[in-house]
Amino acid sequence: MPQGLGRVLISREEIAARIGELGRAVAREHAGRVPLLVGVLKGAVVFMADLIRTIPVPVAMDFMGVSSYGAGARSSGSVRLTADLSMSIEGRAVVIVEDIVDTGWTLDYLRRNLETRHPRSLRTCALLDKVERRQVDVSLDYVGFAIPDHFVLGYGFDLGGLYRGLPDIHILEET
Ligand code: IMP
Repeated sequence: MPQGLGRVLISREEIAARIGELGRAVAREHAGRVPLLVGVLKGAVVFMADLIRTIPVPVAMDFMGVSSYGAGARSSGSVRLTADLSMSIEGRAVVIVEDIVDTGWTLDYLRRNLETRHPRSLRTCALLDKVERRQVDVSLDYVGFAIPDHFVLGYGFDLGGLYRGLPDIHILEET
């Protein structure tokens, strides 16, 4: 086991089952529309790839990049756009797809930013929600799992760019 990688918090089977439920909810609540899923780079890429395959209606996909923790494990509180969407979202039914909501600063920034572009609707989806760490009140429409205050790795979650490819979600071993 690589150094720093602790026990499995959420297994690949649990992740797959829950994402199926989220995908069906997204489809149900966007009946008659083609939702545009906006994934937040880089962490949400793995989640996004699985999520779109559970949505039984046509969907469109785009990505945005925001600054993250760099090599550390705690948020700086300041969010910066590093890559923008490749299309207009005016009049579209948009769903922001985030890997995890921790302090809430990132999602709050993205929501405000996208609202200025006049989407028809704007919903938010996060695989994980670290409720206890919230500093900004952001509303979430679709949540995979609420988790306690552990730093997590795997399934898109990284520490210094590593571990994103692991199929399960692990906690960081405190040494
Ligand atoms: P927030 O702005 O504090 O809500 O943080 C959101 C971003 O911080 C996420 O998109 C992740 O990139 C990163 N992050 C927060 N918690 C973790 C974690 O436990 N593991 C890996 N990345 C995390």
